[in-house]
Amino acid sequence: MRFFPIIPVALCLQGGLAGAQEKSVDRVTILVVYHSVKGHTAALAKGVEQGARRVANTDVKLETPSRVTCSQLLGADALVVGSPVYWANMAGEIKTFFDRWTTECKVLPPEFPMRDKVGAAFTTGGEVASGKELTLLSILAAMLANRMIVVSEGQALGATATTGEGDQTLADKDLDEARRLGERVARVTWTLKQGRSRP
Ligand SMILES: Cc1cc2nc3c(=O)[nH]c(=O)nc-3n(C[C@H](O)[C@H](O)[C@H](O)COP(=O)(O)O)c2cc1C
Repeated sequence: MRFFPIIPVALCLQGGLAGAQEKSVDRVTILVVYHSVKGHTAALAKGVEQGARRVANTDVKLETPSRVTCSQLLGADALVVGSPVYWANMAGEIKTFFDRWTTECKVLPPEFPMRDKVGAAFTTGGEVASGKELTLLSILAAMLANRMIVVSEGQALGATATTGEGDQTLADKDLDEARRLGERVARVTWTLKQGRSRP
């Protein structure tokens, strides 16, 4: 008979002590940066935002590259970057954004201040196979060079949409890819941040 009250008390004590040592994680912040002239990449960015918001207590901020401040960049837990395909590569505005990390935000080796943040990419291109994967890889390569942890969802390398002549709305399938990318980024970011808070 004496064992029954003792076991729950022991379990409570164990949980309480472990809980006292952990810093609890309240929220994660995801920054979604995109360039868009005709609105297609902006529409995918909204899909990424919707997907990330499926995960509770996740803050999502959408921003265009020139408006991102150093404190926004360095304060985010995750960064998702979207670009239209321009000549089989990322748009110049997105390349300049990455370059500004160093020229304006002092993102340099050996500290690599973006180290271990989660990164992901999405793109829209006019044609089916005219540079979307190269665009995604160029974005992911810049993140890897900064020692970020890159993830994908949607397609193998990130979310994509083919926009043809450039005046149609995006297909539901493409928006769903973007939502799944946003949700995955949020879930991985939570897992990493909670893991880091453990002693
Ligand atoms: C300068 C320029 C270069 C482009 N180069 C390519 C290309 O190499 N491959 C491709 O599939 N689409 C290319 N496109 C088409 C855009 O990638 C496509 O229209 C994209 O969806 C535009 O995105 P937005 O609506 O967000 O502005 C190019 C468009 C521009 C303006």
